[in-house]
Amino acid sequence: MSLLIFLLVVIKTEGFHSINEVPNPINITFIDSAVSKGAVCLDGSPPAYHFDQGFGDGIDNWLVYLEGGGWCETESECKARALSTYGSSFRKPKVYYFNGVLSKNQMINPEFYNWNRVFVRYCDGSSFAGNVEAVNPATNLYYRGARIFKVVMEDLLEKGMKYASNAILTGCSAGGLATILNCDRFRALVPSANRVKCISDSGYFIHAKDVPGVKRREKRFAGVVRLHELSNFLPSSCTSKRNPSLCLFPEYLVKDMETPLFLLNSLYDSWQITYNLKPHHGDEHGWKKCTKDTKLCSPGQLKTIRDFRMDFLKSLQEIGNSSCTGMFINSCYLHCYTYSTERWNCAAGLGNTTIAQAIGDWYFDRDSFKGIDTMHDVPQECTQCL
Ligand SMILES: *[C@@H]1O[C@H](CO)[C@@H](O)[C@H](O)[C@H]1NC(C)=O
Ligand SMILES: *[C@@H]1O[C@H](CO)[C@@H](O)[C@H](O)[C@H]1NC(C)=O
Ligand SMILES: *[C@@H]1O[C@H](CO)[C@@H](O)[C@H](O)[C@H]1NC(C)=O
Repeated sequence: MSLLIFLLVVIKTEGFHSINEVPNPINITFIDSAVSKGAVCLDGSPPAYHFDQGFGDGIDNWLVYLEGGGWCETESECKARALSTYGSSFRKPKVYYFNGVLSKNQMINPEFYNWNRVFVRYCDGSSFAGNVEAVNPATNLYYRGARIFKVVMEDLLEKGMKYASNAILTGCSAGGLATILNCDRFRALVPSANRVKCISDSGYFIHAKDVPGVKRREKRFAGVVRLHELSNFLPSSCTSKRNPSLCLFPEYLVKDMETPLFLLNSLYDSWQITYNLKPHHGDEHGWKKCTKDTKLCSPGQLKTIRDFRMDFLKSLQEIGNSSCTGMFINSCYLHCYTYSTERWNCAAGLGNTTIAQAIGDWYFDRDSFKGIDTMHDVPQECTQCL
């Protein structure tokens, strides 16, 4: 199937109306029994999630959302992380407010509002992928992301997910990467389900071999692969062809995935541009200023950002032929869309289709949605999404 490229002008609307969401705080659940199995956060605390039960005809449908929050790639980074909310479930807030794709309001989340919805806390620093048996007595850190994924899923299967008819694995940022890494495993857990698909929100971290900062990008993922010992976790379809340290870049993974995947991302992902494109030598301050407000970028900085975008487009073209791969790729200078009610319901760059509509249509096979906004050669503010 050929790639549909939408060439539509963004219609700027003055004063869009925002949807008022009734706050929906969901309590945290700890899996204390996981501790004896060694399925624990960096600091040894138990895995945790927030669960809102499905109702009506959504009772047998499950949406599992993996929290994001970067990675740690050295012992000292992970040590610091273990003392933060991203390395310890005990430091997580006791409630999480379910918005966007997690909302139980039909107006906001028309397709999935009555599903069982789960927000899984991220506390391992490896996108739910690590499985290191040894615990260094000097640091007492546990690198057990894959075990956490496994015990959380076992817990949810017991809660009723084993009867799932429809299921989705999703997540944003490091959680969007975790979605790609764990998608086929998730599919295998619910073999009798009708329709299982994955949605990676802002998890398509590109290698961009010819764009400044490539050493930094490679080093970051190589550090995660080494420290969390991911070589055996990563698919052999990638590790047999190239250095396993490159096999966290989604462009080397998604072609070989068996489960349908939706990529939601911006060609100008603000996190990637801010943290993955920093210049090699020097002007860190200038880059900070430019990435804080892209209107202040110099022509040279804009060139780097455009080169990054071209590489992004190229990598999407290379993977985009599968009819199962849905896409909503815009030009907003943003990172993460699904957990925010405003962003989940915003149409930016692809006509009037909102992210929620595009994903609903793709999930239920009404439309094999593949939209890439190729109109803009500078990052867009997309105030309609804020
Ligand atoms: C959530 O936790 C609070 C505090 O422990 C408790 O009062 C409340 O009943 C809990 N809510 C639900 C839905 O279990
Ligand atoms: C996808 O299609 C394009 C154009 O038809 C082609 O150039 C590209 O090699 C294809 N990619 C793959 C992975 O098959
Ligand atoms: C988008 O919606 C506006 C207002 O409803 C309408 O005027 C316009 O034609 C629509 N644009 C597209 C591309 O459908």
